[in-house]
Amino acid sequence: MTAATTSSTEPRQASQPGAGSAAIQTRGLTKRFRGGQVAVDHLDLDVPVGSVFGFLGPNGSGKTTTIRMLLGLISPTAGSHSLLGLGMPQRASAVLPRVGALVEGPAFHPHLSGTDNLRRMDAADRPADPRTSKARIGSALERVGLTAAARKRYRAYSLGMRQRLGIAAALLQPRETARTGRADERPGSAGEPGKSGT
Ligand SMILES: Nc1ncnc2c1ncn2[C@@H]1O[C@H](COP(=O)(O)OP(=O)(O)O)[C@@H](O)[C@H]1O
Ligand SMILES: [Mg+2]
Repeated sequence: MTAATTSSTEPRQASQPGAGSAAIQTRGLTKRFRGGQVAVDHLDLDVPVGSVFGFLGPNGSGKTTTIRMLLGLISPTAGSHSLLGLGMPQRASAVLPRVGALVEGPAFHPHLSGTDNLRRMDAADRPADPRTSKARIGSALERVGLTAAARKRYRAYSLGMRQRLGIAAALLQPRETARTGRADERPGSAGEPGKSGT
């Protein structure tokens, strides 16, 4: 697995605990699955705040496993990591509300429109402010180019539109770190919504 970083045109200033720290830092991060397979082997990563970062590698090279460890969805076998300067998993409850994530397939209701799916998700998101919900949903859809299809049912969305809606869901709240991972590994341009594969 290799990693690529480009600088974002709009670096964001972090203004909460952990400000000034790396968005992601890993030291010796390792995952050995039961059965003995080492999926991620001593990964050292420093991803600066304000950068666009991608994992590149063939199927099975450990990209999704890395992302799942970063989010605390699975425990590393060895090593340590922090998000926005806060150690994981100890500070998960403080840091995860500040992190947008889409790991492989998002779960959307096929019979609801893009807007209505995002409304449901936002209503279930504890730190989300209901007073700004409508505006945040509108701007997330606009950011990923789904404004024209916002009222269309999810089941009528193309694969690319579905992936864009997943990114919109990750952008619903102002986040300092967003990451996506998906099962298929098609080539695409990094940083373009719906086109980057991890
Ligand atoms: N839950 C699991 N149990 C056992 N092996 C797993 C599990 N998840 C992933 N793996 C293995 O770890 C390796 C890395 O998988 P993954 O991180 O999904 O790769 P990528 O996302 O780069 O395609 C693969 O060989 C995969 O079979
Ligand atoms: Mg994967």
